[in-house]
Amino acid sequence: MQHHKNDSKVIIALDYADAASTLKLVNQLDPTLCKLKVGKELFTAAGPQLVEQLTAKNFKVFLDLKFHDIPNTVKNACEAACNLGVWMLNVHASGGSTMMQAAFEGVSKSAHKPYLIAVTVLTSMNQASLHEIGIESSVENQVLTLAKLTQQAGLHGVVCSALEAQLLKQHIKSDFLLVTPGIRPANVNQDDQSRVVTPSQALRMGASYLVIGRPITQAANPLNALKAIVADCVNLTM
Ligand code: C5P
Repeated sequence: MQHHKNDSKVIIALDYADAASTLKLVNQLDPTLCKLKVGKELFTAAGPQLVEQLTAKNFKVFLDLKFHDIPNTVKNACEAACNLGVWMLNVHASGGSTMMQAAFEGVSKSAHKPYLIAVTVLTSMNQASLHEIGIESSVENQVLTLAKLTQQAGLHGVVCSALEAQLLKQHIKSDFLLVTPGIRPANVNQDDQSRVVTPSQALRMGASYLVIGRPITQAANPLNALKAIVADCVNLTM
């Protein structure tokens, strides 16, 4: 694994509809203090060109496209993502081990070897929605099963909530990355997130990286909001 100069734990979720509003925020940020997440909305609207613009500004980019398709297609999609110079990308673990291994092969061809992680169970799913698609195990067991499968396939980690991170830490090798959304600094709006933890709490619960959107993107001063979060990240005794 390569060494990253920027080892900030904060990944800012760029949940914007177009390149202009994204760049308006990004131009206020410092690439040594954060990484950036580009998801399906922004990527569909602004495309690979925006990703290349962000990497050209020295930001590490997590391309959150959650690939889920036949192995060969996912492998080729991962190769294409690597060619954009992304730092991290992801697939759905429910695509199975053959698909994940193919994804890993695609990533391995790239010279700079980005992190490849998997989504286990979307947090929008609950027991009833799992049942509906034919899965009878509990959400927790399904998360654990898919995280173990992800690790066996050789991937670098999973996306999970801080609460799941605690569970996974007990069953998964220690260098497995746990990338956690659902983070809110103390005293800020929870938005539509229901169970939230602070940055330092998430890190204590085992998170490797924190995905944070609106507390930074909607702040009156995004750079100051980011700096306060980065300061909380080193405050592990609170
Ligand atoms: O604005 P906020 O901090 O809630 O943004 C969180 C980001 O993490 C959003 O991009 C959201 O889609 C993503 N996410 C999440 N919960 C998950 C997986 C991803 O909030 N379980």
